[in-house]
Amino acid sequence: MAAPEVTNYDDYIHEPNNTKLDHLPGDWGMPFFGHSFQYLKDPLPFAQERYKQFGPISRVSTYGTKGLLCLGPDLAQQIMLDPGKDFSSKMGFHQRVATFFRGSLIMEDFEHHKFQRRIAQTAFKNESLKHYTKEINRIYDRAMDEWQASVGQETQFFMNIKNLLLEVAAEVFIGIQERGERVQKLSQGFIDCVDGIMYILPINLPGFAYHKGLKGRDFLESSIGALVPERRAGDGKDMLSHFCREKDEQGNYFSDEDIRNQMIFLLFAAHDTTTAAITHTIYYLARHPEIKQKLYEECVALGKDTLDYEDLDRVPYMQQVFNEVQRIRPSVPSVPRRTIREVEMAGVKVPAHTMVFTMPRFTHWMEEYWTEPFKFDPDRFSPERSEHKKHAFQFHPFGGGAHKCIGMHFSQMEYKCFLHKFLLKYDFVAKHKDPDVFMQTFPLPKPSDNMPIELALR
Ligand code: HEM
Repeated sequence: MAAPEVTNYDDYIHEPNNTKLDHLPGDWGMPFFGHSFQYLKDPLPFAQERYKQFGPISRVSTYGTKGLLCLGPDLAQQIMLDPGKDFSSKMGFHQRVATFFRGSLIMEDFEHHKFQRRIAQTAFKNESLKHYTKEINRIYDRAMDEWQASVGQETQFFMNIKNLLLEVAAEVFIGIQERGERVQKLSQGFIDCVDGIMYILPINLPGFAYHKGLKGRDFLESSIGALVPERRAGDGKDMLSHFCREKDEQGNYFSDEDIRNQMIFLLFAAHDTTTAAITHTIYYLARHPEIKQKLYEECVALGKDTLDYEDLDRVPYMQQVFNEVQRIRPSVPSVPRRTIREVEMAGVKVPAHTMVFTMPRFTHWMEEYWTEPFKFDPDRFSPERSEHKKHAFQFHPFGGGAHKCIGMHFSQMEYKCFLHKFLLKYDFVAKHKDPDVFMQTFPLPKPSDNMPIELALR
């Protein structure tokens, strides 16, 4: 059975972005560049300043796109839960990433999204997650042995974890078990694709990032596509095999094209986010040895060197650390949408086809909700303090509503299994040249010096 007919897109996907917003608070910033420089440098102080000056909703112009910055938990809730079906994710992402992520979950709305999501969900059931946990622990064991060679030397943690999670992507997501040239080529295709998304000009000529990105995407598409027939016929337990074989309750399955599109986005959505989460954790643990020690003691107290799937809830302090890292440095800095019709937001009428941007980190740092929000303090998530429970959307690192992260449990498993093994085997200190290292948000949130550390065996 093929995918259900898409009936509701034609109303809005052909409309250009509305930029007639001069009646709303804010300004358009510098001619041509808008607010791009302030935003790229650090979106948080920029947003805090806008909030002070204009309130929760204001005009912004970044990266050539004009729209509205929507700040605070009320607007995040309205946009993400979207009870009136007023906001399009497809059109929110359309401007920058349509070429790279066409046909993926994030580029679909409403009924068509629901159809794709139901099938994709089959790859994230408990049984599958249990299998992924085993596989990931096997890969981590290998890495923990290999990293021993760098004990006592300075090494860039970000590069190490990035490469390790690329191995996870190849083995657990795509099911390629052997290491070597094939995986290296896939990883390079993926890296090119990700770099391409950061293009300045959409020029498809050699030498331009956009061109490199499209080439990377083509390579991923043909490599993944070539595996589909074999995976459909086999009984593999990797994510690609699930996508190839499984159907929803109505017997609908993914077409070959759907599989390629969904897998490419899944690799992107999974990799950079978890890489950022683990890298930031290492950054904050290095700055707070007492928190690192408490976490280490929790790992030791578990009495085993591997976190199995059943153990994931048995490390509550690690969960607090994960939450605090996502609060203070969320892996996804901004969630875009486009209005489908005129919508009332924060007391103003926002016209149809207007780009709107939420910013989780702004909400995660609001003094109305968090004590000393700039401070790294995992205990704010302890059962006694539970600072995160004042508003349903004051803490939303995984989004919310129909597009809420499908890999939420997977990513926390990937994170916890890593930290458990890493902390039991290694101690580490930071080796920043500048202790006030710049914490970048784009193209990926991380310390800009790639988090140099020195490892020591425990
Ligand atoms: C720390 C790790 C992660 C964070 C913070 C994160 C965050 C998010 C957020 C905020 C969204 C919603 C975006 C929106 O509404 O526009 C999202 C969507 C998504 N994420 Fe994640 N993510 C993480 C890891 C992962 C992993 C590991 C996977 C896959 C294994 C994944 C797959 C997806 C997919 C497919 C979507 C789109 C869902 C849809 O549109 O229905 N993510 N993620």
